[in-house]
Amino acid sequence: ERSKQVTIVEMAPRDGLQNEKQPIDTARKIELVNLLSDSGFARIEVTSFVSPKWVPQLADAAAVMAGIERRPGVRYAALAPNMQGFEAALAAGADEVAIFASASETFSMRNINCSIAESIERFRPVAAASRDRGVPLRGYVSCVVECPYEGAVPPESAANVAWQLRALGCYEISLGDTIGKGTPEAVDQMLAAVLGELPVSALAGHFHDTSGQALDNIAVALDRGLRVFDAAAGGLGGCPFAPGAKGNVDTVAVHDYLTAHGYETGLDEEKLARAAAFARSLRSAS
Ligand code: HMG
Ligand code: MG
Repeated sequence: ERSKQVTIVEMAPRDGLQNEKQPIDTARKIELVNLLSDSGFARIEVTSFVSPKWVPQLADAAAVMAGIERRPGVRYAALAPNMQGFEAALAAGADEVAIFASASETFSMRNINCSIAESIERFRPVAAASRDRGVPLRGYVSCVVECPYEGAVPPESAANVAWQLRALGCYEISLGDTIGKGTPEAVDQMLAAVLGELPVSALAGHFHDTSGQALDNIAVALDRGLRVFDAAAGGLGGCPFAPGAKGNVDTVAVHDYLTAHGYETGLDEEKLARAAAFARSLRSAS
């Protein structure tokens, strides 16, 4: 009998806000994180310690981390692409750090300005430092099925990069359909390849909902045994380096889907609805 417990990792403050055109006050970002903390998430990705020239929207990462209420039992995570980001994330009090690679060479260059192989080398000291300092390390693989520059990505590429992140010591690898173009068939093939290399307990699904297929892709991943999914309250999100990328799958939609199918998320529906309404209020009018 497979587990009916599913963990939703909340992405709105990071993946959600990184792509917003209008500057958003630090205080409102903090309020969003606090509302999410109150909704029952065990894991929230708060921000990124990346170059402020590349992602100006998250330039206040340290101030956001300093301002949030730290609820016991919640793990507050941040992205860190290199040692500079890792040191800044830890100084700011991040409980968990995430490194991020890509299954597509062109997206790797556009997103983090280096090849896939170079990115793994840059992550090596981050992985060593996280091990030394007892900080949980998560890994992302972007473009696991589709790349905005290269089109369809071979499942073996996703599996290979996922394996390399695992070998670096990531306790969990989040598989990103960065531009939300993956069909359930393509996602299933990708998962089959990744599961040939990694245990299902080490995997999470990260689906953007550009073409409205994210819930179908989650269904496929649930069938494959995955029990951790990234989602963003209010369906916020997108990646500035992935043209056409829309929001992360909406947390409320994922929660509703899961509960309708007999899964438990541990989230408080009313509080989640309040956090989601607040998240939507931060979105630029377009
Ligand atoms: P670079 O220019 O190659 O790096 O950027 P560099 O080492 O040559 O440094 C250049 C400048 O950046 C220097 O400053 C550094 O100090 C600074 P300068 O001397 O010019 O004033 N710098 C930093 N500043 C703050 N924090 C840092 C940092 N590192 C260098 N950590 C780099 C390489 C990776 C830094 C850059 O490309 C970058 O920041 N990219 C941002 C990538 C990003 O955040 N993308 C969005 C998140 S990924 C995503 O959304 C996908 C995901 O959701 C999954 C999915 O959907 O697929 C995770
Ligand atoms: Mg994403």
